[in-house]
Amino acid sequence: MLKSTLLKATQAGAKVLQEYFNGTFTISHKDTINNLVTEADKKAEEAIIAAIREDYPDHYILSEEIGELRQDSTIKWIIDPIDGTVNFAHGIPLCCVSIGVEQDGEMILGAVYNPLMNELFFAQKGFGATLNDKRISVSAKTSMSNACLVTGFPYNWEETANNPLNVFERFIRQGLPVRRLGSAAIDLCWVACGRFDGFWEHHLNPWDSAAGYLIVQEAGGRVTDFSGNAYSPYQKKILATNGHIHADLLKEINSI
Ligand code: IPD
Ligand code: CA
Ligand code: CA
Ligand code: CA
Repeated sequence: MLKSTLLKATQAGAKVLQEYFNGTFTISHKDTINNLVTEADKKAEEAIIAAIREDYPDHYILSEEIGELRQDSTIKWIIDPIDGTVNFAHGIPLCCVSIGVEQDGEMILGAVYNPLMNELFFAQKGFGATLNDKRISVSAKTSMSNACLVTGFPYNWEETANNPLNVFERFIRQGLPVRRLGSAAIDLCWVACGRFDGFWEHHLNPWDSAAGYLIVQEAGGRVTDFSGNAYSPYQKKILATNGHIHADLLKEINSI
């Protein structure tokens, strides 16, 4: 039941995303001029929450635009109504709906759907990960030297340990292909299906990674913070890889 509600809510949000993508919409910004939020983010969020509420009126919801709808429930829905809003606003078809379902603090279900590429990634804890219903797994690459990597940068720059630009520079200087797609959820799913071998980012929010990190894990990958500890979506720093190159990437990130 939780799974069918998750898929229903994901589709409801994606329908809004797709309709607005081909049309016109208002765009405003949050704290900084390029931290955008569009009419579609809000409408997609409304559609997702309505779909969940229809089946589970008393579940806890954490969603990017509306914030926390607290309920005394063991189930928490963690929603990014559109991940990749800047892409969306510029007509770049790399954006998606991302929803994770947490039970008693453990992520048990995740769905990431990019309707513009018709790619639905899904995972259930302990049951593997799929792309459009076909099992996926991370890449088999064992060497960092020919890996394809992806990263992202925050809208609000703040100096942190392991400075993101220095880490980026370090990999570029080694001649590694490093991509920046602009959707952390898609980055994670593309690690899960083997298109990328590794993804790291310094400053994510729970809704960016909740579904995607479970999808990577269920596809056989490894997800940690920058100290190599088990990842939780409530921490900002994430490293997700195929597992084989994880230790090497950790070393590089921590050598800055
Ligand atoms: C953003 C994207 C981007 C990441 C940013 C996120 P949004 O989410 O996931 O890839 O680099 O840190 O905030 O705002 O498009 O939902
Ligand atoms: Ca996001
Ligand atoms: Ca978003
Ligand atoms: Ca946002």
